[in-house]
Amino acid sequence: MIRASRTGIWPGVSCLVLLSLDLLAAAERTKAQDSSQNPLASDAAAVKAGESTYEANCSLCHGAKGKGGRAPRLADSDDIRDMKDQEIFAVIQKGVPDTEMAGFPLSQHQISDLVAFIRNLNASAYQQNVSGDFASGQKLFYGAAGCASCHIIAGKGGLVGPDLSNIGAERSLAQLTEALRNPGAGATPRYRHVRALTRLGQSIDGIMKNDSTYSIQILDLNGNYHLLLKSDLQEIIYFKEPLMPATTLAEKDFQNLLAYLSRQVVQLGANQQTEPEERIY
Ligand code: HEC
Ligand code: HEC
Repeated sequence: MIRASRTGIWPGVSCLVLLSLDLLAAAERTKAQDSSQNPLASDAAAVKAGESTYEANCSLCHGAKGKGGRAPRLADSDDIRDMKDQEIFAVIQKGVPDTEMAGFPLSQHQISDLVAFIRNLNASAYQQNVSGDFASGQKLFYGAAGCASCHIIAGKGGLVGPDLSNIGAERSLAQLTEALRNPGAGATPRYRHVRALTRLGQSIDGIMKNDSTYSIQILDLNGNYHLLLKSDLQEIIYFKEPLMPATTLAEKDFQNLLAYLSRQVVQLGANQQTEPEERIY
């Protein structure tokens, strides 16, 4: 039983390790994104031309606006974000062997336009023009909306939810909106919401980090790890509902929060207006 409250020493260390790994991963992702950015993606004429070529040749399989269907989605796709322009270009030109994706006899120009269109379908929130007031959004995040109790941005906040320091680069505006309105829809098991009740009546609520035959590890809402022996527990509740509550802000506040989140990228100088304090990385 004591085990439940005895988890104070090494958890602190592992929190720090987790945190710095997260930040490194985020920085890597931003770098990857930079190197694959198509200057054409913001070229409105190329995007438009690409769109009509897409509708004529691709939407049958990849769906309207790249939402997917018979073939994988091309919009808001992590796979596409990980591909370089040349790789997308090559897939369109040569196809993918042994699949329905055949090469297309289109001109270089047409294929470039298609790449521009596909990139545009994957534009991050940061690359989009998001209305709303940044400063009010920041205030909500750290204040009334309660986000910072679970999420870190730029080294400040809670550890239970994902680090949002690079969220503007990682997600599109549509994905951010969805994450707030309908939390957990795309959640991985990394964020499984659980509650453990000990035999002594203590209740520990948080995210399941590990679950084995004899023990369970929970990261609680204050960012503390608990390694609990199942023999010490009365009950473990595995919630279907996500830990994150759906955001019920008024429309204007919601937009301000989006404006703030969409500006969060891990890139020195990129979010200067956001940062009253020094960044820690
Ligand atoms: C007959 C159906 C079909 C048509 C038409 C088609 N594709 Fe595909 N496409 C596929 C399939 C199936 C795959 C997945 C191949 C695989 O398994 O790797 C794919 C894969 C891709 C990929 C790689 C996606 C990824 O996540 O790796 C891109 C990019 C792509 N298609 C672009 C296009 C474009 C642009 C067009 C129009 C010029 C087009 N496709 C037309 C069926 C199609
Ligand atoms: C009680 C903890 C908690 C609170 C409060 C909370 N979140 Fe979350 N949030 C999570 C968890 C956990 C996830 C991971 C998915 C899930 O299980 O819901 C998440 C996911 C997200 C995501 C998606 C991240 C991604 O990688 O796609 C965004 C964006 C987000 N939260 C923003 C917010 C904002 C903005 C607020 C305040 C309005 C907020 N969250 C409040 C716990 C919380």
